[in-house]
Amino acid sequence: MSERRALVVGATGALGPAMCRALKAGGYRLVLVGRRPDPLTRLARSLSGRALPWDITRDPALLLDLAGPVTLLVNAAVRRPLPADDEEPWSPEVMRRLLEVNAVAPAQLVRAFAARLDAPGLAVLLTEEEPPLSPYAASIAALETMGPALVEDHPLCALRFLSQPRAPGVNAARTAAALMGLVAAAGS
Ligand SMILES: NC(=O)c1ccc[n+]([C@@H]2O[C@H](COP(=O)([O-])OP(=O)(O)OC[C@H]3O[C@@H](n4cnc5c(N)ncnc54)[C@H](OP(=O)(O)O)[C@@H]3O)[C@@H](O)[C@H]2O)c1
Repeated sequence: MSERRALVVGATGALGPAMCRALKAGGYRLVLVGRRPDPLTRLARSLSGRALPWDITRDPALLLDLAGPVTLLVNAAVRRPLPADDEEPWSPEVMRRLLEVNAVAPAQLVRAFAARLDAPGLAVLLTEEEPPLSPYAASIAALETMGPALVEDHPLCALRFLSQPRAPGVNAARTAAALMGLVAAAGS
């Protein structure tokens, strides 16, 4: 069987490392993405994977070129409101930043991933279930609304959302198990 390779974006957060470990145990070779090189390199080293420091808002086609062929894309990158955003939570700037990282960038990445598949592939997008009404919630809802349409002209690409309530309702081990369930169900 050919080697399975996965690209995990947002690998170094609260949930990413457990998902990466589960994927590695499931036989995937990993390319790990986040903006900060140090934690990314440490995690990649511990998993014999590759660290690719990158901001998800940058060119998705270039990211995929650098990553090499992958049949599984997991996005756990997220921007939450910064304390400074609380002053003007509905300002255009705050809304733009949240929408860019949480909706526009993952949507573009999924489109680019789906377009270059030459074998069945799976994109898994982590989202938060029913966050309190806010621009952050709007950015999550925007991605979820676009979801199926992002891959409808790419039959090789399945897309699944892994949506969970905010901690303490979620933990990393359960998230990793849920991810592996989606991977198994998709036959990826
Ligand atoms: N943790 C929870 O309780 C919980 C509950 C429900 C749902 N979720 C969902 O699960 C997903 C992961 O959550 P989490 O708690 O693991 O998030 P987190 O701890 O905030 O981690 C976010 C990850 O994304 C990376 N990242 C942030 N901005 C990025 C950007 N512009 N480009 C590339 N990478 C970026 C971060 O690394 P850098 O900062 O180095 O870039 C980090 O690896 C999110 O979709 C979240 O909504 C989480």
